[in-house]
Amino acid sequence: MALTGTDIGAAAKALEDGKLVGLPTETVYGLGANALDDTAVLSIFTAKNRPFFDPLIVHISDISQLPNYSRHIDERLFRLASHFWPGPLTLLLPKTDLIPNIVTSGLERVALRVPAHPLTLQLLKMLPFPLAAPSANPFGYVSPTTAQHVNDQLGDKLAYILDGGACGVGLESTIVGVEDDTVCVYRLGGLSIESIEAVVGKVELALNVSSDPRAPGQLKNHYAPRKPLFVGNINQLLNDHPNKKIGIITFGPQKTVPPCNFYFNLSDTGNTQIAAMNLFRALREADAADVDLVIAEVLPDEGLGRAINDRLKRASVR
Ligand code: TXA
Ligand code: MG
Repeated sequence: MALTGTDIGAAAKALEDGKLVGLPTETVYGLGANALDDTAVLSIFTAKNRPFFDPLIVHISDISQLPNYSRHIDERLFRLASHFWPGPLTLLLPKTDLIPNIVTSGLERVALRVPAHPLTLQLLKMLPFPLAAPSANPFGYVSPTTAQHVNDQLGDKLAYILDGGACGVGLESTIVGVEDDTVCVYRLGGLSIESIEAVVGKVELALNVSSDPRAPGQLKNHYAPRKPLFVGNINQLLNDHPNKKIGIITFGPQKTVPPCNFYFNLSDTGNTQIAAMNLFRALREADAADVDLVIAEVLPDEGLGRAINDRLKRASVR
């Protein structure tokens, strides 16, 4: 168990001492350390059991910090930052020498974002350095959306957990960059493609499903609970798995709830924003329930539904 509370001073002190702190953001909780300190960054990888080829997002206090960490910014990406920061948007930008190579896994670009959580923003403004922070879960597992989730799995490795309540967005940030003069989305997330395209026009989806080290968050098997998860049509999936203890995750109004051992409706009004906020809690609770397997309903593939489907598919058995 880590010391947990809302004491920003305690969090700042621990970070200044090179220690790890659990941080609330609007997307998911992060496992934060001084991004400019190699040793502190190294301890993030160790705590998460994360491979070194998987680079980290650097969190900054506001857009004016950009020139310190990025050599150049494409005009379209700047427009996105101006529109959506603080918020669930991460930009891949050519790094300056201030950013240690361990942060970017040796890549030329650094992932930067301004998170929209009052406690973490206040903390970032107090600190003389930015914070490297991956999601605060063991590598490959479901991301945490409460301080309790962080404590459950990584509590013994953290000096402090800043408790900012349940995350309002609930899905990781959308990752965007420019390649061959085209705006590309590398990871679907809490900012929808539709919102991005409203600002910069058509974007390309570069969502790798291989083990491409340029975007390991896109590894095929990621965000996964330990129980087998199957995604599709609920009735079909129930037929496929007779005589099993089943956990069901649905979306939208339901006429009836089939007999099952665990049930979670992500949003009974069919609101994708609420579904996003609930998704990782639902997966964690289903994982902890007395079930053999979990089945989840596919959402309409638009807005945040797309990112939710992406996470469900990556978490599922193939
Ligand atoms: O919402 C979020 O993005 C959360 C909160 C804590 O900010 N963070 C998060 O970090 O989801 P993480 O480490 O779980 O996922 C970040 C992903 C990495 O898996 C990697 O694929 C990609 O971002 N990434 C980071 N730096 C990169 C880089 N330099 N080039 C390409 N991809 C990068
Ligand atoms: Mg993660």
